[in-house]
Amino acid sequence: MNGEASLLCVNCGWRGDPEELRYTCPRCGEPLTIVYEEDYLAERARELREGRGRGVWRYSAFLPFPDDVRRVTLDEGSTPLHESKQARGLRLKNEGLNPTASFKDRGMTVAVTDALRRGASRVVCASTGNTAASVAAYAARAGMRSYVLVPSGAVARGKLAQAVAHGSKIVKIRGGFDEALREVLRLVSEDSGLYLLNSVNPYRIEGQKTLAFEVWEQLGGSVPDAVVLPVGNAGNISAIWKGFRELVEAGLARSAPRMIGVQAEGAAPLARAFEGGLSELRPVDSPQTYATAIRIGRPASWRRALMAARESRGAIISVSDQEILRAQIDLARVDGVFVEPASAAALAGYRRAIAEGLLDPGESVVAVLTGHGLKDPDAVAMFGSDEVEVEPRDLTRELSAST
Ligand code: F0G
Repeated sequence: MNGEASLLCVNCGWRGDPEELRYTCPRCGEPLTIVYEEDYLAERARELREGRGRGVWRYSAFLPFPDDVRRVTLDEGSTPLHESKQARGLRLKNEGLNPTASFKDRGMTVAVTDALRRGASRVVCASTGNTAASVAAYAARAGMRSYVLVPSGAVARGKLAQAVAHGSKIVKIRGGFDEALREVLRLVSEDSGLYLLNSVNPYRIEGQKTLAFEVWEQLGGSVPDAVVLPVGNAGNISAIWKGFRELVEAGLARSAPRMIGVQAEGAAPLARAFEGGLSELRPVDSPQTYATAIRIGRPASWRRALMAARESRGAIISVSDQEILRAQIDLARVDGVFVEPASAAALAGYRRAIAEGLLDPGESVVAVLTGHGLKDPDAVAMFGSDEVEVEPRDLTRELSAST
């Protein structure tokens, strides 16, 4: 193993060997985290600074594999960081430009590499759609059979099309994401031949943490004041916070940004827990929001998400579907970046945070735009469109009449 990695439960302190495949703590059930021995990251800091190649694997010094591991990759990561036209200091990390058009690919290249290394031939996930699309593509690339469990009825069309295209077995579960995840966890506990690709898999987190390294490099070796991102099952906020903390641990950054997680009002158990200063999660039974990617009431990584927000002196807040839609339209029509609804929650959250004084105007803030707009073409029905159908001979008149 690429040295000195172990599995840690951040809740009860249990430690284990990552060579033994485990997703959750055998003592308390918390999703496990990969940690490195003291000094290990500092020792390899130079390799991170002088990384070769692009994307996720540029940071292989901070990934838990030997250097000669057989990678399953589609060139994920290296996504653009655009300056937003909407506010000074605001930058947009465009994760929709990953191979399957969401940030999930960062985690998937690492986790499917691990699955291959362990000889797995069948992989599985529960998903609101993007994880399913990513699993489908990477499993195809690795020559594995994939099974994706999705809520019946609420999966965006583009995401489903991807899972179909890549040949996954698609199982629509009656219920929501939370029920699908519960069942998939039961399934993998009963069938050790099934490799789990949800973000409770610690290798997913290792891949997703590289967004922090990339932002740090894109900002010339510095970190922003804050990062704003949508939160559903809460793997990504845990991962990005881990990445920034590792930069500090390695001596590459002096401090880490405040992490501001954003949930949709109808699916906001973490925002409630944060606002109430609670130490336990009160799950939401029937989560609702038009941002279907984050329609989640019982986030698996809730404890790590609260830790990220609290340790970083950030926050977890909620925004209405109305605010999400407004932000989605503005991103498309002012910044020229088309994102799916969940991703627009990042900009909606930025606006809310400014209004509530959590962020000051002009601060350096990175909003993580997690998925491409083409994932969910039906959402555009609410934008209002400017279209007409004309006879060919009427074209000149039509365009000269319109301004
Ligand atoms: N944005 C998008 C576009 C997503 O697809 C997700 C999660 C999130 C944000 C939230 O990330 O769960 O790590 O807090 N989608 C998962 C899926 C649940 O199944 O595709 P998170």
